[in-house]
Amino acid sequence: MKKQFWILTILSFTLSTVLVAQSFKFAAMSDSRGPYNGVNDPVLSVLASHLAESQPDVKFVVFAGDMVNGHEYDPERTLRELEHWKDVMSPIYNNKRMVWPRLWPVVGNHEVRNRKDEGNFRKTFPDVFSNGPDDEKGLSYSFDFNNSHFTIINTDNWYYGDPLDTTDDRRDWHYVKNLDWLEKDLYSARKRGIEHIFVFSHEMAFPTGGHLRDGLPNLGRHLKLPLDSTRVWYLNRRNKFWDILKKYNVDAHICGHEHLYARQSVDGVYEIITGSSGAPVYHFNPKYRAENIDSVYPGEEMSYAEAVKYYKVLHYFYGQGENSQASKNFVGLRAFNYTVYDVRKDSVIVETYGAFPKEKTNNILDSPIKLIDKFVIKNTVAGKDSANACKSN
Ligand SMILES: [Fe+2]
Repeated sequence: MKKQFWILTILSFTLSTVLVAQSFKFAAMSDSRGPYNGVNDPVLSVLASHLAESQPDVKFVVFAGDMVNGHEYDPERTLRELEHWKDVMSPIYNNKRMVWPRLWPVVGNHEVRNRKDEGNFRKTFPDVFSNGPDDEKGLSYSFDFNNSHFTIINTDNWYYGDPLDTTDDRRDWHYVKNLDWLEKDLYSARKRGIEHIFVFSHEMAFPTGGHLRDGLPNLGRHLKLPLDSTRVWYLNRRNKFWDILKKYNVDAHICGHEHLYARQSVDGVYEIITGSSGAPVYHFNPKYRAENIDSVYPGEEMSYAEAVKYYKVLHYFYGQGENSQASKNFVGLRAFNYTVYDVRKDSVIVETYGAFPKEKTNNILDSPIKLIDKFVIKNTVAGKDSANACKSN
């Protein structure tokens, strides 16, 4: 009997040691542009310090783009803003409890506003892996940590048509250029037995507020039906991106671009928008109104009447009593925030810490940072969280 007790005790200790070894935490945040050298210092510094001090188990942070304002004609200014941003993020960069390189960057549209910006971004953040597609080295890349795979995919390129023609260049925003690379990357991760996959980009696949006109569907302003061939191309590209995430049972697509907090499971894959660590906080997609459907309410991107065209194309839930979003399980808060991911073997526990803007403002912090949302992503390999059905996509 005594022998059995000791065998059970040793087995239990070994099992718990294995489970603890597989568990770890990481954090994500995004969108900190603002008026102080291109950064909203007061908000970003409070969030970065809070994260560093209250989350001792977080191993690293992924920042999903739009760190700074950037400038269309002055790339040197963008560089200075990025260096300033790194100073404000010193609570993360100086955090000895975190592992190298402590912060993994994602490029956003505000970092790619001039033809020199991509090169400057690479110089500012040299500590990323060069395993991305040939034309996106340092902008798209991936790595493993413990039982998880992390893929950072660029969605805001610069297009060089004729390299000899200096006038033939332009921003090439809002799509995943190298879907083949993404698929190979995720295939290889699953083949070597990775348990969790997290994909990051700046742009979201399902706009929730403030960017109904762009993001990866990129439907443009003043949408007209039927869709023209350019709109169809972007929409198909977005759909292929999401199909790949579904095919490889990705735990979550984590992104920014919209300055708010939002999460929803679309066809079994979570999209988590952890936008605004300082950028002006947005309003959500306009909901049905019995009156004044043509009016644009203060802070909203467009009127409900105009938004309906977008909802139809995107197959959102709209009309009386609906949420004007891609799924019924949508949860959103107009808050500055960062998200923490407690990665276990069978699940990922997501905690969101945030604070709300001062009344009648959108970029001033006015309350202490506290837990504002918590949910669980169930094991994605052995039984996905498919309880949250969606209408389409
Ligand atoms: Fe953005």
